Amino acid sequence: MNNNRIHLTPRDFEVVFQDNLSEFVKKKIKHFNFLAQMVSVQDRDKILLKIIKTLLDPQVAKAGRHRQLQWEKGWAENLKALKSHKIESIIPLYFGKYNVVRWRQEFLRPRSSNFEYNMLAVIQYWLFDKYLRSAECIYEFGCGTGHNLLRVREINPKAQIWGLDWTHSSQEIIKMISADKNDSRLFADNFDFSNPDKNFSLNKKSVVYTVAALEQLGDNFQPFIDFLLEKKPEICLHIEPIAELLNEENLVDYLSILYFKKRNYLSGFLLKLRELKEAGKIKIHMAKRTFIGSLYIEGYSVVVWSPVFKT
Ligand SMILES: C[S@@+](CC[C@H](N)C(=O)[O-])C[C@H]1O[C@@H](n2cnc3c(N)ncnc32)[C@H](O)[C@@H]1O
Repeated sequence: MNNNRIHLTPRDFEVVFQDNLSEFVKKKIKHFNFLAQMVSVQDRDKILLKIIKTLLDPQVAKAGRHRQLQWEKGWAENLKALKSHKIESIIPLYFGKYNVVRWRQEFLRPRSSNFEYNMLAVIQYWLFDKYLRSAECIYEFGCGTGHNLLRVREINPKAQIWGLDWTHSSQEIIKMISADKNDSRLFADNFDFSNPDKNFSLNKKSVVYTVAALEQLGDNFQPFIDFLLEKKPEICLHIEPIAELLNEENLVDYLSILYFKKRNYLSGFLLKLRELKEAGKIKIHMAKRTFIGSLYIEGYSVVVWSPVFKT
């Protein structure tokens, strides 16, 4: 048996999440059969070099409003593939692109299929299991193709589920999924984080979540926070890149922080939430890194908070 082989167990995820997992989540982890290889010293150098070259590459695109058309075109491709009756085509192509993942501040080479995608799925199952089971309405903002919504439906068969995004292809894809799955409680609407529609109302007992979507906003998250403070969902849950939770003194983390800056990814969001907490406007239930990521970033930190209801 090669001792550089890794087989991730439910216990490994409990350690990084610092939480006990339900039997439901443990079963998912076992089913995913996470097999990987630790990287050699030479391979680690190769990976670090690739990251550094990318960080120094002036051509790397920054996230922001100017990218709306690219998102629209990208999801239109997924829509086209979906029309050819391939439900897997709602999974974005950027997962697993480099066959390297981050795990506990190191790199691994996956040996089982969909490793990176399934690691993100475990984070979602953990959080959805904890916070979404009894919600009556669930909204994913910046949902893209809506593939995360299928996991929400697995956890909560009854809730009204909404997928929102500023691209129109997103709504078309979700309408197709809802017809395909015969799910009359799955809805879609257009929504722009930078200019939230004040008339879009959130129902009672609702949970709002985002996955790698606030990521795209840089420091332009205030309009969305204001929207949430006004609409007062019960829980707001984010799986996003959060530099505040990484360790600048660790090389692997530091490169991730530099990449966040390079791409103009989410910045200052947790600091803002902490200010709101100090001002008594919100409660923060969880702010944790997951020690899980892709080649360039640890992009799946978790923040869970609620607006404070004043009576
Ligand atoms: C990296 S993708 C993530 C999509 C989805 N949450 C997922 O996990 O697959 C980022 C998403 O944010 C959306 N987005 C970017 N800026 C936005 C904005 N200002 N308003 C609404 N959606 C936005 C994009 O269209 C895209 O669907």
